[in-house]
Amino acid sequence: MNQKNKKRNNRQKKAIRIVSLFSGCGGSDLGVQGGFAFLGKRYGKLSTEIIFANDNDLASTETYRANFGDHVVHKSITKIISSEIPNHDILIGGFPCQAFSIVGQRNGLNDPRGLLFEEMARILKDKSPKAFIAENVKGLANIKKGKVLKLIIKEFSIGYDVKYKVLHSADFDVPQKRERVFIVGIRKDLRIKFAFPKPVAKQWVPLKKVLLKKREFDKKYYFSQKAVEGLKKSNKAFDKGRAQNIEEPCNTISAHLAKVSLNGTDPVLLIGHEKYRRFTPLEAARIQSFPDNFKFVGGDLEAYKQIGNAIPPVLMWHVAKALIKQLQGK
Ligand SMILES: C[S@@+](CC[C@H](N)C(=O)[O-])C[C@H]1O[C@@H](n2cnc3c(N)ncnc32)[C@H](O)[C@@H]1O
Repeated sequence: MNQKNKKRNNRQKKAIRIVSLFSGCGGSDLGVQGGFAFLGKRYGKLSTEIIFANDNDLASTETYRANFGDHVVHKSITKIISSEIPNHDILIGGFPCQAFSIVGQRNGLNDPRGLLFEEMARILKDKSPKAFIAENVKGLANIKKGKVLKLIIKEFSIGYDVKYKVLHSADFDVPQKRERVFIVGIRKDLRIKFAFPKPVAKQWVPLKKVLLKKREFDKKYYFSQKAVEGLKKSNKAFDKGRAQNIEEPCNTISAHLAKVSLNGTDPVLLIGHEKYRRFTPLEAARIQSFPDNFKFVGGDLEAYKQIGNAIPPVLMWHVAKALIKQLQGK
Protein backbone atom coordinates (compact mmCIF):
# COMPACT_ATOMS: atom_id res chain seq x y z
CA MET A 1 0.00 0.00 0.00
CA ASN A 2 1.46 3.39 -0.93
CA GLN A 3 1.89 6.22 1.56
CA LYS A 4 -1.17 8.15 0.31
CA ASN A 5 -3.49 5.14 0.60
CA LYS A 6 -2.06 4.32 4.03
CA LYS A 7 -2.84 7.85 5.20
CA ARG A 8 -6.38 7.65 3.80
CA ASN A 9 -6.86 4.26 5.42
CA ASN A 10 -5.73 5.56 8.81
CA ARG A 11 -8.01 8.56 8.48
CA GLN A 12 -10.96 6.32 7.67
CA LYS A 13 -10.12 4.04 10.59
CA LYS A 14 -10.23 6.98 12.95
CA ALA A 15 -13.33 8.60 11.47
CA ILE A 16 -16.59 8.27 13.38
CA ARG A 17 -18.82 6.14 11.17
CA ILE A 18 -22.27 7.57 10.58
CA VAL A 19 -25.42 5.87 9.32
CA SER A 20 -28.19 8.24 8.22
CA LEU A 21 -31.83 7.11 8.09
CA PHE A 22 -34.52 9.21 6.41
CA SER A 23 -31.61 11.14 4.91
CA GLY A 24 -33.72 13.24 2.52
CA CYS A 25 -31.54 15.58 0.47
CA GLY A 26 -28.95 15.49 3.26
CA GLY A 27 -29.38 18.58 5.44
CA SER A 28 -28.59 16.51 8.52
CA ASP A 29 -25.73 14.82 6.71
CA LEU A 30 -24.09 18.06 5.66
CA GLY A 31 -24.23 19.13 9.30
CA VAL A 32 -22.74 15.91 10.61
CA GLN A 33 -20.02 16.03 7.95
CA GLY A 34 -19.14 19.74 8.26
CA GLY A 35 -16.63 21.42 5.98
CA PHE A 36 -18.88 24.16 4.58
CA ALA A 37 -19.41 27.89 4.89
CA PHE A 38 -22.62 29.80 5.54
CA LEU A 39 -23.02 33.59 5.81
CA GLY A 40 -19.27 34.07 6.05
CA LYS A 41 -18.78 31.53 8.86
CA ARG A 42 -16.88 28.32 8.43
CA TYR A 43 -18.37 25.11 9.85
CA GLY A 44 -15.28 22.93 10.06
CA LYS A 45 -15.03 19.35 8.86
CA LEU A 46 -15.99 16.98 11.69
CA SER A 47 -14.11 13.70 12.12
CA THR A 48 -16.92 11.69 10.57
CA GLU A 49 -17.53 9.49 7.58
CA ILE A 50 -21.09 8.78 6.43
CA ILE A 51 -21.04 5.14 5.34
CA PHE A 52 -24.73 4.44 4.65
CA ALA A 53 -27.79 6.59 4.03
CA ASN A 54 -31.35 5.73 3.16
CA ASP A 55 -34.53 7.40 1.95
CA ASN A 56 -37.57 6.13 0.08
CA ASP A 57 -37.99 9.27 -2.04
CA LEU A 58 -36.17 8.94 -5.36
CA ALA A 59 -35.61 12.64 -6.04
CA SER A 60 -34.18 13.14 -2.54
CA THR A 61 -31.72 10.32 -3.01
CA GLU A 62 -30.66 11.81 -6.36
CA THR A 63 -29.91 15.13 -4.69
CA TYR A 64 -28.16 13.26 -1.91
CA ARG A 65 -26.00 11.32 -4.36
CA ALA A 66 -25.01 14.49 -6.22
CA ASN A 67 -23.72 16.07 -3.02
CA PHE A 68 -22.40 13.18 -0.94
CA GLY A 69 -21.81 10.07 -3.06
CA ASP A 70 -23.10 6.61 -3.76
CA HIS A 71 -23.60 5.33 -0.22
CA VAL A 72 -27.30 6.27 -0.32
CA VAL A 73 -29.91 3.54 -0.85
CA HIS A 74 -33.33 4.32 -2.35
CA LYS A 75 -35.64 1.95 -0.48
CA SER A 76 -38.14 2.03 2.36
CA ILE A 77 -36.48 1.45 5.71
CA THR A 78 -39.21 -1.08 6.40
CA LYS A 79 -37.65 -3.23 3.63
CA ILE A 80 -34.08 -3.00 4.89
CA ILE A 81 -32.94 -5.74 7.22
CA SER A 82 -30.44 -4.73 9.86
CA SER A 83 -27.65 -6.89 8.42
CA GLU A 84 -27.74 -4.70 5.26
CA ILE A 85 -26.64 -1.76 7.38
CA PRO A 86 -22.92 -1.57 8.17
CA ASN A 87 -21.70 -1.33 11.76
CA HIS A 88 -21.37 2.29 12.78
CA ASP A 89 -20.72 4.67 15.67
CA ILE A 90 -23.57 7.17 15.38
CA LEU A 91 -27.04 6.66 13.93
CA ILE A 92 -28.84 9.82 12.79
CA GLY A 93 -32.43 10.20 11.62
CA GLY A 94 -35.15 12.82 11.36
CA PHE A 95 -37.91 10.24 11.34
CA PRO A 96 -41.14 11.45 9.67
CA CYS A 97 -43.85 12.59 12.04
CA GLN A 98 -46.40 10.21 10.56
CA ALA A 99 -49.58 9.14 12.33
CA PHE A 100 -48.43 9.84 15.85
CA SER A 101 -52.03 9.86 16.90
CA ILE A 102 -52.02 6.06 16.75
CA VAL A 103 -48.99 5.62 19.03
CA GLY A 104 -50.02 3.73 22.11
CA GLN A 105 -53.39 2.77 20.65
CA ARG A 106 -52.22 -0.18 18.65
CA ASN A 107 -52.95 -3.76 19.51
CA GLY A 108 -49.46 -4.94 20.31
CA LEU A 109 -47.11 -6.47 17.79
CA ASN A 110 -49.87 -7.82 15.58
CA ASP A 111 -50.96 -4.37 14.55
CA PRO A 112 -49.65 -3.79 11.02
CA ARG A 113 -49.53 0.00 11.37
CA GLY A 114 -45.79 0.19 11.91
CA LEU A 115 -44.33 3.52 12.91
CA LEU A 116 -41.11 4.80 11.44
CA PHE A 117 -39.43 5.74 14.73
CA GLU A 118 -39.71 2.05 15.55
CA GLU A 119 -37.53 1.32 12.52
CA MET A 120 -34.89 3.59 14.01
CA ALA A 121 -35.28 1.85 17.38
CA ARG A 122 -34.89 -1.52 15.60
CA ILE A 123 -31.57 -0.49 14.03
CA LEU A 124 -30.36 0.82 17.41
CA LYS A 125 -31.22 -2.49 19.04
CA ASP A 126 -29.65 -4.61 16.33
CA LYS A 127 -26.50 -2.55 15.67
CA SER A 128 -25.79 -0.91 19.06
CA PRO A 129 -23.96 2.17 17.80
CA LYS A 130 -22.29 4.36 20.44
CA ALA A 131 -24.87 7.11 20.05
CA PHE A 132 -27.77 8.45 18.05
CA ILE A 133 -29.35 11.75 17.11
CA ALA A 134 -33.06 11.83 16.23
CA GLU A 135 -34.98 14.94 15.25
CA ASN A 136 -38.61 15.85 14.90
CA VAL A 137 -41.10 18.72 14.93
CA LYS A 138 -41.44 20.69 18.15
CA GLY A 139 -45.10 19.70 18.35
CA LEU A 140 -44.05 16.11 19.04
CA ALA A 141 -43.43 17.15 22.65
CA ASN A 142 -47.08 18.21 23.05
CA ILE A 143 -49.02 15.44 21.28
CA LYS A 144 -51.28 13.70 23.80
CA LYS A 145 -49.81 15.83 26.58
CA GLY A 146 -46.29 14.55 25.94
CA LYS A 147 -47.27 10.86 26.09
CA VAL A 148 -46.11 10.19 22.52
CA LEU A 149 -42.64 11.66 23.11
CA LYS A 150 -42.41 9.69 26.35
CA LEU A 151 -43.21 6.48 24.52
CA ILE A 152 -40.66 7.19 21.79
CA ILE A 153 -37.99 7.94 24.39
CA LYS A 154 -38.88 4.74 26.23
CA GLU A 155 -38.22 2.73 23.05
CA PHE A 156 -34.98 4.59 22.35
CA SER A 157 -33.83 4.16 25.96
CA ILE A 158 -33.23 0.43 25.68
CA GLY A 159 -29.46 0.44 26.21
CA TYR A 160 -29.13 4.23 25.91
CA ASP A 161 -29.05 7.27 28.19
CA VAL A 162 -31.41 9.61 26.37
CA LYS A 163 -31.78 13.38 26.57
CA TYR A 164 -34.09 15.60 24.57
CA LYS A 165 -34.38 19.32 24.00
CA VAL A 166 -36.24 21.73 21.77
CA LEU A 167 -33.62 23.80 19.94
CA HIS A 168 -34.37 27.11 18.23
CA SER A 169 -32.57 27.35 14.88
CA ALA A 170 -32.15 31.14 15.13
CA ASP A 171 -30.15 30.68 18.35
CA PHE A 172 -27.57 28.91 16.17
CA ASP A 173 -27.26 31.55 13.41
CA VAL A 174 -29.88 30.04 11.10
CA PRO A 175 -32.13 32.85 9.70
CA GLN A 176 -35.30 30.98 10.64
CA LYS A 177 -37.52 30.60 13.72
CA ARG A 178 -37.58 26.83 13.28
CA GLU A 179 -37.89 24.93 16.54
CA ARG A 180 -37.22 21.22 16.55
CA VAL A 181 -36.98 18.56 19.21
CA PHE A 182 -33.66 16.72 19.22
CA ILE A 183 -33.42 13.37 20.98
CA VAL A 184 -29.85 12.28 21.66
CA GLY A 185 -28.83 8.97 23.20
CA ILE A 186 -25.45 7.63 24.27
CA ARG A 187 -24.92 3.91 24.91
CA LYS A 188 -25.20 3.25 28.65
CA ASP A 189 -21.84 1.48 28.98
CA LEU A 190 -20.05 4.67 27.86
CA ARG A 191 -21.37 6.48 30.95
CA ILE A 192 -21.68 9.88 29.27
CA LYS A 193 -24.65 12.14 29.85
CA PHE A 194 -25.12 14.29 26.77
CA ALA A 195 -25.15 18.05 27.22
CA PHE A 196 -26.85 19.99 24.41
CA PRO A 197 -24.93 22.86 22.79
CA LYS A 198 -25.65 26.31 24.17
CA PRO A 199 -27.04 29.01 21.83
CA VAL A 200 -24.28 30.80 19.93
CA ALA A 201 -26.11 33.70 18.26
CA LYS A 202 -25.45 37.08 19.85
CA GLN A 203 -28.19 38.46 17.63
CA TRP A 204 -30.61 36.53 15.43
CA VAL A 205 -29.80 36.69 11.71
CA PRO A 206 -32.57 38.59 9.88
CA LEU A 207 -34.22 37.16 6.78
CA LYS A 208 -32.99 40.08 4.65
CA LYS A 209 -29.44 38.70 4.91
CA VAL A 210 -30.32 35.74 2.68
CA LEU A 211 -32.73 37.32 0.20
CA LEU A 212 -31.53 37.75 -3.38
CA LYS A 213 -30.87 41.38 -4.16
CA LYS A 214 -32.57 41.45 -7.55
CA ARG A 215 -35.16 44.04 -8.59
CA GLU A 216 -37.18 41.61 -10.69
CA PHE A 217 -37.71 37.87 -10.39
CA ASP A 218 -39.06 35.35 -12.87
CA LYS A 219 -42.83 35.83 -12.98
CA LYS A 220 -43.42 32.30 -11.67
CA TYR A 221 -42.28 33.54 -8.23
CA TYR A 222 -45.02 36.21 -7.98
CA PHE A 223 -48.57 35.51 -6.86
CA SER A 224 -51.29 36.48 -9.34
CA GLN A 225 -53.42 39.59 -8.97
CA LYS A 226 -56.39 37.26 -8.44
CA ALA A 227 -54.66 35.62 -5.48
CA VAL A 228 -53.86 39.05 -4.00
CA GLU A 229 -57.50 40.17 -4.41
CA GLY A 230 -58.58 36.94 -2.69
CA LEU A 231 -56.23 37.66 0.19
CA LYS A 232 -57.60 41.19 0.59
CA LYS A 233 -61.13 39.85 0.83
CA SER A 234 -60.23 37.06 3.26
CA ASN A 235 -60.92 37.32 6.94
CA LYS A 236 -57.79 38.70 8.63
CA ALA A 237 -58.47 36.45 11.60
CA PHE A 238 -57.39 33.50 9.48
CA ASP A 239 -53.89 34.96 9.49
CA LYS A 240 -53.36 34.09 5.87
CA GLY A 241 -50.65 35.39 3.56
CA ARG A 242 -47.89 35.38 6.09
CA ALA A 243 -45.80 38.24 4.75
CA GLN A 244 -42.48 38.12 6.56
CA ASN A 245 -40.76 40.87 8.47
CA ILE A 246 -37.38 40.78 6.78
CA GLU A 247 -35.72 42.34 9.83
CA GLU A 248 -36.33 39.09 11.74
CA PRO A 249 -35.55 35.43 11.03
CA CYS A 250 -38.12 33.81 8.73
CA ASN A 251 -41.05 31.81 10.09
CA THR A 252 -40.62 28.05 9.75
CA ILE A 253 -40.58 26.77 6.19
CA SER A 254 -41.78 23.25 5.45
CA ALA A 255 -42.16 20.81 2.57
CA HIS A 256 -45.42 22.65 1.93
CA LEU A 257 -43.32 25.38 0.26
CA ALA A 258 -43.82 23.34 -2.91
CA LYS A 259 -47.53 24.25 -2.79
CA VAL A 260 -47.32 27.65 -1.15
CA SER A 261 -50.35 29.86 -1.72
CA LEU A 262 -51.50 33.19 -0.33
CA ASN A 263 -54.38 31.28 1.13
CA GLY A 264 -52.22 29.33 3.54
CA THR A 265 -49.90 30.13 6.41
CA ASP A 266 -46.58 29.55 4.64
CA PRO A 267 -44.16 32.46 4.82
CA VAL A 268 -44.14 34.73 1.74
CA LEU A 269 -42.72 38.15 0.89
CA LEU A 270 -44.65 41.38 0.44
CA ILE A 271 -42.99 43.60 -2.16
CA GLY A 272 -44.14 47.20 -1.90
CA HIS A 273 -47.85 47.38 -1.08
CA GLU A 274 -49.68 44.78 -3.13
CA LYS A 275 -47.17 42.48 -4.72
CA TYR A 276 -46.41 39.16 -3.11
CA ARG A 277 -43.81 36.60 -4.06
CA ARG A 278 -42.62 33.21 -2.89
CA PHE A 279 -38.98 32.49 -2.06
CA THR A 280 -36.83 31.14 -4.85
CA PRO A 281 -35.37 27.67 -4.11
CA LEU A 282 -31.98 29.33 -3.49
CA GLU A 283 -33.48 31.68 -0.90
CA ALA A 284 -35.37 28.80 0.74
CA ALA A 285 -32.14 26.77 0.89
CA ARG A 286 -30.36 29.73 2.51
CA ILE A 287 -33.20 30.11 5.04
CA GLN A 288 -32.40 26.52 6.01
CA SER A 289 -28.63 27.37 6.14
CA PHE A 290 -27.57 25.38 3.07
CA PRO A 291 -24.50 26.86 1.41
CA ASP A 292 -25.06 28.15 -2.14
CA ASN A 293 -22.96 25.37 -3.68
CA PHE A 294 -25.35 22.62 -2.47
CA LYS A 295 -26.94 21.10 -5.57
CA PHE A 296 -30.65 20.26 -5.74
CA VAL A 297 -31.50 17.78 -8.49
CA GLY A 298 -34.81 18.15 -10.35
CA GLY A 299 -37.19 21.09 -10.65
CA ASP A 300 -38.31 23.77 -8.19
CA LEU A 301 -41.09 21.62 -6.70
CA GLU A 302 -38.74 18.81 -5.73
CA ALA A 303 -36.21 21.30 -4.39
CA TYR A 304 -38.79 23.08 -2.19
CA LYS A 305 -39.95 19.75 -0.77
CA GLN A 306 -36.45 18.55 0.01
CA ILE A 307 -35.40 21.90 1.46
CA GLY A 308 -38.52 22.24 3.60
CA ASN A 309 -38.04 18.73 5.01
CA ALA A 310 -34.40 19.21 5.92
CA ILE A 311 -32.70 19.65 9.24
CA PRO A 312 -30.78 22.95 8.98
CA PRO A 313 -27.16 21.87 8.35
CA VAL A 314 -25.78 24.58 10.66
CA LEU A 315 -28.03 23.49 13.55
CA MET A 316 -27.13 19.83 13.00
CA TRP A 317 -23.42 20.74 12.88
CA HIS A 318 -23.65 22.22 16.39
CA VAL A 319 -25.45 19.17 17.79
CA ALA A 320 -23.13 16.68 16.07
CA LYS A 321 -20.01 18.60 17.11
CA ALA A 322 -21.13 18.61 20.75
CA LEU A 323 -21.88 14.88 20.64
CA ILE A 324 -18.56 13.97 19.00
CA LYS A 325 -16.62 16.11 21.49
CA GLN A 326 -18.34 14.41 24.40
CA LEU A 327 -17.85 10.92 22.92
CA GLN A 328 -14.17 11.69 22.53
CA GLY A 329 -13.98 12.92 26.12
CA LYS A 330 -12.97 16.45 25.14
C1 LIG B 1 -37.97 15.01 7.88
S1 LIG B 1 -37.39 14.32 6.38
C2 LIG B 1 -35.69 14.08 6.73
C3 LIG B 1 -34.82 15.16 6.22
C4 LIG B 1 -33.34 14.91 6.28
N1 LIG B 1 -32.91 14.44 7.57
C5 LIG B 1 -32.57 16.18 5.95
O1 LIG B 1 -32.02 16.79 6.86
O2 LIG B 1 -32.54 16.58 4.76
C6 LIG B 1 -38.02 12.69 6.44
C7 LIG B 1 -37.60 11.82 5.28
O3 LIG B 1 -38.07 10.50 5.50
C8 LIG B 1 -38.31 9.91 4.24
N2 LIG B 1 -39.15 8.71 4.44
C9 LIG B 1 -40.48 8.64 4.68
N3 LIG B 1 -40.87 7.36 4.80
C10 LIG B 1 -39.77 6.61 4.64
C11 LIG B 1 -39.53 5.19 4.63
N4 LIG B 1 -40.53 4.33 4.83
N5 LIG B 1 -38.27 4.75 4.42
C12 LIG B 1 -37.26 5.62 4.20
N6 LIG B 1 -37.42 6.97 4.18
C13 LIG B 1 -38.67 7.45 4.40
C14 LIG B 1 -38.95 11.03 3.44
O4 LIG B 1 -38.82 10.82 2.05
C15 LIG B 1 -38.15 12.26 3.93
O5 LIG B 1 -37.08 12.55 3.06
